[in-house]
Amino acid sequence: MRWNQVDQQAHVEVLVVGISGNQPVEERIRSLYPDRLDEWVRRGDISTKQGELRLLPTLTGTVERVLFVGLGKAEGLTTDSLRRLLGKAAQFLKARKLAKVTVDATTFPNQPVELIAEAFGLATYDVKHYKTSTHATYELDLTIWSDAGEQDVVRGAALAEATNLARRLVTMPGNLLTAPALADEARFIAERYGHELQILEKEEMEALGMGALLAVNQGSTIPPKLIVLEYKGAGDEAPIAVVGKGVTFDTGGYSIKPKDGIVGMKGDMGGAAAVLGLFEALGQLKPNVNVLGVIPATDNMISGDAFKPDDVITSMAGKTIEILNTDAEGRLVLADAVTYAKEYKPKMIIDLATLTGGVLVALGTEITGALTNDAALYERFEAVTQETNEMIWQMPYVDQFIKQVRRSDVADLNNSPGRMGHMIFGGAFVGEFVGDTPWLHLDIAGTSEQKAASELGPKGATGVMVRSLYRFVEQEK
Ligand code: BES
Ligand code: MN
Ligand code: ZN
Repeated sequence: MRWNQVDQQAHVEVLVVGISGNQPVEERIRSLYPDRLDEWVRRGDISTKQGELRLLPTLTGTVERVLFVGLGKAEGLTTDSLRRLLGKAAQFLKARKLAKVTVDATTFPNQPVELIAEAFGLATYDVKHYKTSTHATYELDLTIWSDAGEQDVVRGAALAEATNLARRLVTMPGNLLTAPALADEARFIAERYGHELQILEKEEMEALGMGALLAVNQGSTIPPKLIVLEYKGAGDEAPIAVVGKGVTFDTGGYSIKPKDGIVGMKGDMGGAAAVLGLFEALGQLKPNVNVLGVIPATDNMISGDAFKPDDVITSMAGKTIEILNTDAEGRLVLADAVTYAKEYKPKMIIDLATLTGGVLVALGTEITGALTNDAALYERFEAVTQETNEMIWQMPYVDQFIKQVRRSDVADLNNSPGRMGHMIFGGAFVGEFVGDTPWLHLDIAGTSEQKAASELGPKGATGVMVRSLYRFVEQEK
């Protein structure tokens, strides 16, 4: 993606302009249609209604066509409706195979350069597939005209790319994106940007006593990996720890999922994908913060070696856990990952996980469920999600639930107190390993994938929370 000063001489294949009901069209655009434009707008041939798109050739040489994007009343546009309008325009051009696109940012409210780059990058994402038939891929070549600096384009483009990286990983099947393959993906990112990377192997996990993560891996022939990434942009300040569930396929284990519930469980590493997306954005944008990323990666399989209900395991923190349900595996891998993250004395911990079906029942597919032990941290993160439109909603992290997580005749904790309110049990279990560190738990089981396409991307993986995480850590400096 490129940024340019408005260049009246440049040859443009398609120029995207905003057109609103209550603001005159700029002379520069009007001059492309001598005498006629106002009339066409008046007649509605070019509509100023919000979301209407009109693609017209021009009568002059330098700009070949214009895509008019109806803005409605410009003041009435929220950031998100503008983002969606831009995404809709991007998809309209993509459908017509128009890849060399220039957007005149000066015709949109407040010259939203970052938003334009972000929306175009998100909206034109192609789902990776394994079909043997070839098909033309769409390579967007975007130029943005603006009086503002280039920095905003770079940010918008980077955040879209980082989100798309997460989407790609979530879409990959479990046989191809195994725990070792996920570790390789982390290695690519680390090598590209110079992040510090450590991959803890099974033997090291054994030495550290990570009995919870190891229990989940016990039935698998594929070794687990604990992926540890460090981004250092702020000297020796305490890092923000971001921990992402990396279950590369979740069968449920002996508490096996029904045949319909198992399909799609390749996406059970959405939290891990968000962490890797964050490190992609950190690598590209280099803010002055320290971030620690921890990803417990394994699949959850069945075999003669697999863990099973009634087993009692010992976590790295030393807490013993009675297994009541092997399908409540996410909280187990997170327990050891959070304990490991705490060794770095982080100033806060954010964990992300496709953790419970309960969050889907409670909040649906557009709102991420949250728990926290720190109201101020929640508020700061929530403010960021208003900008990115990745909505979160806080559930009660209260004694009634914590008590039930601690109820067991044989161990310190149990991993599945019951179905009623189980999104909260999942988070509260992780909370047992967090201690006093400010903590935010994000259950993205409902938001990590969507059943239908939107203006900002195809159906399937959303890359949810990559943009919010980046903006959040950047502002915490
Ligand atoms: N990975 C699932 C949660 C999930 C469900 C993610 C649907 C995406 C879509 C998780 O490991 C799980 O199986 N959770 C159980 C918890 C229960 C056993 C307490 C669930 O939600 O039923
Ligand atoms: Mn499960
Ligand atoms: Zn799971």
